[in-house]
Amino acid sequence: MGHDTRNTTKRVAQPTLTRRSLLGAGALAGGILALAGCSWTPRGAQTSQGAEPGASAQANSAATQTSSDAPANANDNLVLVSGGTFAMGSPSDEPWRGDDEAAHEVTVSDFYLAPMEVSQQEYNATVGAAGDTGNVPATGVTWYDAIAYCNALSTKAGLSPAYAIDGEAVTWDRSANGYRLPTEAEWEYACRAGTTGPFNLGHSPSADEVNYYGHYPYEIEGNYFDQDVLEVKPGVYRGEPITSGSFEPNAWGLYDMHGNVAEWVWDHYGAYDASASHDPTGPDTGELRVNRGGGWNDFAKNLRSAYRASLTPTSSSPSVGFRVARNAAPLEGTVGGAATSQAAGGEPLVVYFSWSGNTRKIAQELATQLGVEPVEIVCERPYSSDYNTCLDEAQRDQNQQARPKLTTHIDNMDRYGTVYIGYPNWWASIPMPIATFLESYDFSGKEIRPFCSNGGGGLGQSVSAISKLAPNAHVDQGLSIYYSGGDNMPQQVTDWLAK
Ligand SMILES: Cc1cc2nc3c(=O)[nH]c(=O)nc-3n(C[C@H](O)[C@H](O)[C@H](O)COP(=O)(O)O)c2cc1C
Repeated sequence: MGHDTRNTTKRVAQPTLTRRSLLGAGALAGGILALAGCSWTPRGAQTSQGAEPGASAQANSAATQTSSDAPANANDNLVLVSGGTFAMGSPSDEPWRGDDEAAHEVTVSDFYLAPMEVSQQEYNATVGAAGDTGNVPATGVTWYDAIAYCNALSTKAGLSPAYAIDGEAVTWDRSANGYRLPTEAEWEYACRAGTTGPFNLGHSPSADEVNYYGHYPYEIEGNYFDQDVLEVKPGVYRGEPITSGSFEPNAWGLYDMHGNVAEWVWDHYGAYDASASHDPTGPDTGELRVNRGGGWNDFAKNLRSAYRASLTPTSSSPSVGFRVARNAAPLEGTVGGAATSQAAGGEPLVVYFSWSGNTRKIAQELATQLGVEPVEIVCERPYSSDYNTCLDEAQRDQNQQARPKLTTHIDNMDRYGTVYIGYPNWWASIPMPIATFLESYDFSGKEIRPFCSNGGGGLGQSVSAISKLAPNAHVDQGLSIYYSGGDNMPQQVTDWLAK
């Protein structure tokens, strides 16, 4: 794999955005919830000799030679993660947890995991693409790209490919010794490295420790203007992925498990099945695949060890990449095989929510280009027209996962095939009226194309949030427009429509 060491650290230019330029001045209210850990019990046999259950990359090379199915030539510096039992998910009082993070006990077997995210250099060299951009993580890769990369890498290394790929139907042969994506459970187990809190560092990450949207450390939402109480103060926002290994690894020698780029894992997105407690592989079917760890443009709350993001597997993002895993011993059976369903045809619908008008302008342009009338999503009780009060209300609604009542109603949703849905990025995700709208209709088989006006945070976690709220729709990767986009906005819309 040829992972570089931390000596290759490169610092990138600081962005021009400032915290206040993004959100303006205003005071936010909000209580701070107490942090609490959950139980974790590593398997005793793996921790003899006083070692933690994860080994370092160096220590792993010896383990690689002795593992039952690892061939002698698999000298790839993957870290041997010794299996164990842990509480997957978050405790009910973890600030900013999602309902989909129900804590449950999971046991994972030993497996190997790459210490770093797949670099652009590795990716291009393996799939035969041009360019050599060094040890910066590969991004803009779909889940299918990641799967294909794993197989290509296996073939190159003389290992048996883990995946049978038939169009969009992917079957994982769990006995194969080739490269694969980690399961969601393996990923969280490895990220936590024995920790039980929101982050594996044991404290909230600063931008000097993790590459993320450093203006927004953990719990800033409730303490935006009273930052004395924050464990970590706002720091730099780099605005791009940086060289892997720029920061300290976690206790098991794994770099960037929080931030830099989020990482595709094997699992379909769905509610945890607490009965699948041993090497779970997620739901058998689904429209979405999970990615974990958060990326360079995420708020700290979305970097938490338990946080689950989900995207359509055919979509890609500039902040989502992946890292590879490999069996330490053959697992049993095959999983997967179902193809993602194709979106049905129908008329286009353009709907949008806008607070200060930017999204409205984009929606109007989009509707004009599509030859339809846009529909505004209107709340029964509008958000305050005062900026600071609106910040406060929006933060409160997001924290409570409120569903504001709407006056907007679409009479016959069945006639629409593609739903273009526009909104401003609010606190790194969707405004809650968008959640109300999505829960009001059945989007099964429809295509949803999100477009998002923002102050520099891009789409944030909004596409993942939409995907979770319309799990049977095909949700595209979305259009991000900086505020109202200026003179170039119509062209951005045209280019996006052409995709
Ligand atoms: C409550 C609130 C929260 C916001 N949060 C973010 C954010 O997290 N990231 C970001 O890039 N911009 C954020 N912004 C800025 C808006 O996304 C941006 O101004 C957008 O252009 C507004 O669109 P609109 O005019 O359609 O309401 C926020 C604005 C408000 C009012």
